[in-house]
Amino acid sequence: MGHALVHWGKQHPDWNLLGIDVYQPGIGSLLLGMEAHNLVHLRIINEEASGALTEFFDPASLDEVRIYFPDPWPKKRHHKRRLIQPGFVALLADRIKPGGRLLLASDWQPYAEWMLDVLDRELALTNLAGPGHFAECDSDRPVTNFEARGQALGFAVWNLAFKRR
Ligand SMILES: C[S@@+](CC[C@H](N)C(=O)[O-])C[C@H]1O[C@@H](n2cnc3c(N)ncnc32)[C@H](O)[C@@H]1O
Repeated sequence: MGHALVHWGKQHPDWNLLGIDVYQPGIGSLLLGMEAHNLVHLRIINEEASGALTEFFDPASLDEVRIYFPDPWPKKRHHKRRLIQPGFVALLADRIKPGGRLLLASDWQPYAEWMLDVLDRELALTNLAGPGHFAECDSDRPVTNFEARGQALGFAVWNLAFKRR
C-alpha cells in the first residue's frame, strides 16, 4: 500500500525514490500518502517490474533496490511465477550501480531459501552475509503491511542483503 515508500520518503528527503507495482489500490494509497506528506521526490511506476526495469532504466543507474515480501507462490506448479528468477536477478544486477545494494525479505522459508540460492548464483552480486547465509534485518526497513499480517500469525522473517560487484 506504499507505506514503506512514504516512510522512506519522509526519512530521506535527499533521495529520489521509485516504487514499481501493478496493484492499483496500493498505488492510490501511495499517492494519497505522497500528497499528505508533500513528498515530491517520490515516483511510482504502474508496470510489471521486469518490463519496467528493462524499458525505463539504464545499466548501473540504481543506487539500491528493495524487494520486500514478493508473492511467495507456494505451490510447486506456480514457482515459475515467482519474481526472483535467474533472469530477473541478472537484470537487477545490471541496473544496480557497482557497490549498490539489493535488499530482500520473505516470511515464507522455502521462498527465502529459493531467493538465497538464485542470488548466490549470480556472479555480479556478493552476499553481504556470506554465501548461503541470511542477513540481519536492515535498520532502514519498517514493518511492511504484508509483514504485519504475517507477524500477527507468528510468522518468522528471513532477510537477504547483496552488493553489486
Ligand atoms: C505480497 S505483496 C507485498 C507488498 C509489500 N512489499 C509489503 O511487504 O507489504 C507483493 C506485491 O508485489 C506486487 N507484484 C507482484 N509481482 C509483481 C511484478 N512482476 N511487478 C510489479 N509488482 C509485482 C503485487 O502487486 C503486490 O503489491
